[in-house]
Amino acid sequence: MHQYTGKLAVLHPSADDKRKSQELADRLSVPLYETIDKECPEDFFLSWRDGCLKLLDKELLKKGGLVVDIEPRNGEQRSWPAPKQDALAHALGRKTRTVVDATTGWGQDSLHIFRMGYDLTCIERSPVMAELLEDGFKRLEQVDWMRNLQLQSPKLLKGNAIELLATLESKPDCIYLDPMFPPKRRKSALAKKSMVVLRDLLGDDQDKELLFEAALKATGKRVVVKSPDYAEPLGGKPSESYHGKLLRYDVYLKN
Ligand SMILES: C[S@@+](CC[C@H](N)C(=O)[O-])C[C@H]1O[C@@H](n2cnc3c(N)ncnc32)[C@H](O)[C@@H]1O
Repeated sequence: MHQYTGKLAVLHPSADDKRKSQELADRLSVPLYETIDKECPEDFFLSWRDGCLKLLDKELLKKGGLVVDIEPRNGEQRSWPAPKQDALAHALGRKTRTVVDATTGWGQDSLHIFRMGYDLTCIERSPVMAELLEDGFKRLEQVDWMRNLQLQSPKLLKGNAIELLATLESKPDCIYLDPMFPPKRRKSALAKKSMVVLRDLLGDDQDKELLFEAALKATGKRVVVKSPDYAEPLGGKPSESYHGKLLRYDVYLKN
């Protein structure tokens, strides 16, 4: 796998046990560094810090890094399951039980869907994001409410959803898509740092039309596409749309 060559390295800035970092670097076929100097060609780094796997760019090296955030969102009820009351829950559908998030990324939508009590499977094709998600999902299994309720983190399938969706054992009620759309402006002041880094690392998802077609084939009942409010609907006119802040959930019902 050469997709991260020259772009990403694993950073292990201490002398202690390097084994985990070396294995991570080997899995991703990227170099392992103990220090970084100006000559270093890579722009992104994975590093274990404070018990979490973190993604850093050069700006974040001193400030900390980005992790899969497993904390409930602001305002989200802290018990499980959280109420299904926002635009996303309406888009997923009242009768929906099983959801596949085919574009898991930082897992923020996935974790929200999981906390609302849906039976969730996650798919992510970027090996770097999959490593970060695995770390986040492991941490999630250690938190008190998950242990008390004997819940397991969502299942994570690694690979291209365009292929994986065709291999699902049973059709989920809903397939959720949040591919990377090109930004309206080159640099949006509103974009979250985690999304800026994700875009810089992976680029836009050029094959989202193919992903939509694969999702429509593989779903039992509906496909939900999250898109910025300025973007054209991915699958033509949707059956329903629900509006959030600067975004839209387009719902495509399967006949
Ligand atoms: C905009 S991000 C998703 C953000 C996510 N909804 C969240 O809440 O953090 C898009 C992610 O989908 C992944 N992705 C895009 N197309 C995919 C595909 N065909 N199969 C699997 N993953 C895909 C990208 O690698 C990227 O990590």
